[in-house]
Amino acid sequence: MNLKMKNNKNIVVTGAAGFIGSALVIKLLHRGENVIGIDNLNNYYDPNLKKARLEQIKKKAFGSKGKWHFYNFSIENNKKLNEISELYAPKIVINLAAQAGVRNSIENPKDYINSNLVGFGNILEFCRHNNVQNFIYASSSSVYGGNKKIPFKESDSVDHPISLYAASKKANEVMAHSYSHLYQIPSTGLRFFTVYGPWGRPDMAPMIFANSILRKQAINVFNNGDMYRDFTFIDDIVNAIEACCFKPAQKDEKFDFLQPNISTSFAPHMIFNVGSDNPISLLGFIDKLEENLGVKAIKKFLPMQPGDVQKTWADIESINSWIKYRPRVNFDEGIAMFADWYKLYYQDSFQ
Ligand SMILES: NC(=O)c1ccc[n+]([C@@H]2O[C@H](COP(=O)([O-])OP(=O)(O)OC[C@H]3O[C@@H](n4cnc5c(N)ncnc54)[C@H](O)[C@@H]3O)[C@@H](O)[C@H]2O)c1
Repeated sequence: MNLKMKNNKNIVVTGAAGFIGSALVIKLLHRGENVIGIDNLNNYYDPNLKKARLEQIKKKAFGSKGKWHFYNFSIENNKKLNEISELYAPKIVINLAAQAGVRNSIENPKDYINSNLVGFGNILEFCRHNNVQNFIYASSSSVYGGNKKIPFKESDSVDHPISLYAASKKANEVMAHSYSHLYQIPSTGLRFFTVYGPWGRPDMAPMIFANSILRKQAINVFNNGDMYRDFTFIDDIVNAIEACCFKPAQKDEKFDFLQPNISTSFAPHMIFNVGSDNPISLLGFIDKLEENLGVKAIKKFLPMQPGDVQKTWADIESINSWIKYRPRVNFDEGIAMFADWYKLYYQDSFQ
């Protein structure tokens, strides 16, 4: 079948084997969209988990109307991106591929330069050449850096990143803005706040802690537990991306040139927080995890880590007024779903 002929149904999702990407792909396939997934299955964390997510896509989307195509390559690879343009001429692009992780960016900065800057630049060119009508990309709550004003609002200054990861995400926002302005590509940057849930990321606290708790090993509790995160359940994130996918960013006709902020623009470029507006304390989070895993944690209290932020808290008014976003899964339900999945998926490791 010549998929180019049906190009209005072709959506490219990069980072498709990732935590957020794989959940999004399942949702889009169920809507009947044709999804072209790209992922390099790198070994930043266990590639078997990425492969298992790809299997999960096939299983969960079995019988759905949408067509699923997967390509294993890096977004730094322009030649391969050109082949995707030739084959599918997509009109919607969702860029989730990135080198994630705040702490790792201190040890391996090159990975962030390559994926998040060179790769992201290639994706912008890909959007330009395909005359893309809606571009969505992952930013992060980490752009708020050392901000002390809470909750974090999109109009707050994000000019003081405290890690290269955060700097790369802020760079993505301004890079996307320039393309949106120059080539009129409607673009939406979503600042995700600590996403958790089934099929999560092994480098993030829920999985690191669950693993150590079940092995009866000590967990590192940074800043002596005085930390807060605005945890956001995976389904809420996916719902927000899906809604933005079918509502391209618009120009702000009332853009204030004398008091500009990055969240809206004279170009069709918008930025939104996607969080829960409900910061959970680190110790409260550990309590809930212990309860759901049925094992007490051994806590090792440590000072704050470089690059880390003490508290995140999302103001979600803006995304609520744009797509009526409201988090639907509360923390107690979300942690229970995460713990159930974790125990099942890793059951053989703990016998
Ligand atoms: N999970 C969170 O809490 C969170 C919070 C804020 C922002 N984000 C952002 O959301 C996006 C998705 O995050 P996630 O949690 O699903 O992470 P993830 O690491 O599970 O998914 C990213 C996927 O992209 C792939 N990838 C990385 N670099 C690539 C490259 N150069 N070319 C092709 N594929 C590449 C990886 O193999 C991985 O499967 C990322 O951009 C991340 O920075 C995530």
